[in-house]
Amino acid sequence: MITLPVASRDGGYDVVIGAGVLAQLGALMQKAGVRGRVAIISDDTVFGLWGEKARAAIEASGYEVAAALRVAPGEESKTLASAEKLYDGLLEAGIGRRDVIVALGGGVVGDLAGFVAATLHRGVGFVQVPTTLLSQVDSSVGGKVAVDHRLGKNLIGAFYPPRLVVADANVLQTLPVRERWSGMAEIVKAGLIRDAKLLADLEQQIEALIEADNGALTDVISRAVAVKAGVVARDEHETGERMLLNLGHTFGHAIETVAGYGALTHGEAVTHGMRVAVALSERRGKLDAASARRARALLARFPNPAWPQLSPDALLEALWRDKKVAAGKVKFILLDKLGNALIDDGLSAEDLAYGAHIAAAAP
Ligand SMILES: NC(=O)c1ccc[n+]([C@@H]2O[C@H](COP(=O)([O-])OP(=O)(O)OC[C@H]3O[C@@H](n4cnc5c(N)ncnc54)[C@H](O)[C@@H]3O)[C@@H](O)[C@H]2O)c1
Ligand SMILES: [Zn+2]
Repeated sequence: MITLPVASRDGGYDVVIGAGVLAQLGALMQKAGVRGRVAIISDDTVFGLWGEKARAAIEASGYEVAAALRVAPGEESKTLASAEKLYDGLLEAGIGRRDVIVALGGGVVGDLAGFVAATLHRGVGFVQVPTTLLSQVDSSVGGKVAVDHRLGKNLIGAFYPPRLVVADANVLQTLPVRERWSGMAEIVKAGLIRDAKLLADLEQQIEALIEADNGALTDVISRAVAVKAGVVARDEHETGERMLLNLGHTFGHAIETVAGYGALTHGEAVTHGMRVAVALSERRGKLDAASARRARALLARFPNPAWPQLSPDALLEALWRDKKVAAGKVKFILLDKLGNALIDDGLSAEDLAYGAHIAAAAP
């Protein structure tokens, strides 16, 4: 079991990573000082697989589980309408200011349940139990919670750090392979921006890690979390360094928008976005050709989904509409070597057109 403390303005919290730690969820909550009655929020798929195990682990430490609420799986559930149904269920179960919400699921459940936790009674206790590789290495850490709006993803949200994150590598046994690769994209991202050693280890055995359970996975999960935790501790509210975590996400988000949600996983879009970032890093003279080749070779090992039709113009339009470029200048995350990222706001229209061209082409 590995415990990584994350510093936060609103009180730090631990991320506990290990194989089988779900069974200790209640004990870990007690140790973290979490009090009150518990409401579990999950999706139908995850609750069916892991819900009773989580409930038993919580009750074993003397907590009362007052409600177990579920949403349909998928991004469509990350809405104010779902939040409203959850408020109903939570209030009907008598969840009060001193009680706690446990989010059991992937990034959708974590973001939605966290948004509800941040707003119900102006904030109740919040514990994250991420069950996808993506949520374990990325979305459960850093305190960003949100729901989507029809005009864009994550437009309604808050910074609301959890009191505890418990990531059990064993729950990934039931995760579909495509979702594992989706999370692996964020692990590669962590290596590219901050950890050359992690990147080299992924080059050694990325396919084996997709097949692996517990031991080997726990190690890379914790190294990716360490990268994110470090960045977030230094810049929780994304005024500077935290932007580096957006490597591959500028075009990645545009690809997701234009493809339509559900066509690609987040990781598939981000993997392609990282290919664009590598190409632009080279074009802008930041990254040498040999390093760019290495990064490209690693990204080429990701399986390719059926690629949707994407027009470069539509991608550029989506990119400009993205809130991150609203100020009129794109702050692009590039690499100046493997393991180091930088912010470049000097991209020309030609650079962006070049990027859009690569982003539109099937991998
Ligand atoms: N808050 C942040 O900082 C942050 C960062 C990155 C991404 N996100 C958000 O995360 C979301 C994506 O998260 P995700 O990729 O985890 O998607 P997800 O939550 O939709 O989960 C993917 C699918 O896997 C299923 N699943 C989850 N755990 C499982 C398990 N153990 N076994 C079998 N099936 C399982 C789910 O039911 C779902 O169908 C997006 O909404 C994105 O915006 C947030
Ligand atoms: Zn991401």
